[in-house]
Amino acid sequence: MKLIITPDAASATHVAAHLLADTIRQRPDAVLGLATGRTMEGVYAALADIHRAEALSFSGIASFNLDEYVGLPPSDPRSYRHYMQTHLFDHVDADERHIHVPNGIAADLKTECAAYEAAIRTHGGISLQLLGIGDTGHIGFNEPPSPFDTRTRVVELDAATRQQNAEMFGGDPDAVPSEAITMGVGTILDAKRLLMVATGPAKADIVAAALEGPITPDVSASAIRLHGDVVVVLDEASAGALSPETRALANAG
Ligand code: F6R
Repeated sequence: MKLIITPDAASATHVAAHLLADTIRQRPDAVLGLATGRTMEGVYAALADIHRAEALSFSGIASFNLDEYVGLPPSDPRSYRHYMQTHLFDHVDADERHIHVPNGIAADLKTECAAYEAAIRTHGGISLQLLGIGDTGHIGFNEPPSPFDTRTRVVELDAATRQQNAEMFGGDPDAVPSEAITMGVGTILDAKRLLMVATGPAKADIVAAALEGPITPDVSASAIRLHGDVVVVLDEASAGALSPETRALANAG
C-alpha cells in the first residue's frame, strides 16, 4: 500500500485528481471506477481544472460508479447520476454512452445488478477504482458486515450512513432512501488499482480502523489491504489517529 499524507483537504483531492489524470494519460481508454460524496467534490473539481488547463481528454474513457440510491431517478438532484453530471461530466468531454451508474429505478433490481457486473466484465474490468470511506467503514455502500466476495447487489443502508448523507435530504435521515445498489467488495477488489481518499477529522478513527485494525467484513474498507496495488491519500486531519508505524509509510516514494 502506498500512503500519501497531505497538509490539507485541498491538496489531498488535488493529488488524487492528478493520479486519475495520469491513469487517463497512460491509457486514454481507461475504465474508471468512480465514487460520489463530499470528499469527491474536490477531486472532480480538480480533475475538471486539469481537463481545461492541460487539455486532458475524457473522450475515450468509460466509467462505472460504485453506487446509486434505490428509488431515485437519474434526473433527481439527490441521485448519484445527477451528482456525477453536475460535479464532473458537465465539465469534461466524456462520452455519455460510456458512462455507467446503477439504475436505482430499474423494474428488476436483481437483473440490473447482474447486468452491471456483466458490463464491467465486458469492458475488461476497472483500471482504477476511486473510493471514499463512510462513517461505518463502508466502501461503496458495503455496510458492515459485507463479506469480501460480495458482488453488485441491493443493500439496506445503515442508520449511520443515512445520518451521514442526510444533508442532501433536507437534513432528515429518514428521508434518505433506505436501500441502494452498490458494487460489492469483491467487485471493488477486482479493479486493477484502488485509490482511496479521505479528508477531515471526522474520518480519523475509521481510517485508522481500516488501515490498522483487523481485516474484517465489519469494516469493509479494511479489505483494500488485501489488494496488491492500492494508493491511500489522506489529509493530516483524517490521518490523525494513525500510529507512528503507519505514518512512517507515508510519502515513502
Ligand atoms: C459514494 C460512496 C461512499 C462515499 C463515502 C464517503 O459513492 O461510495 O462510500 O465515498 O460514504 O462519503 P463522503 O465523502 O461524503 O464523506
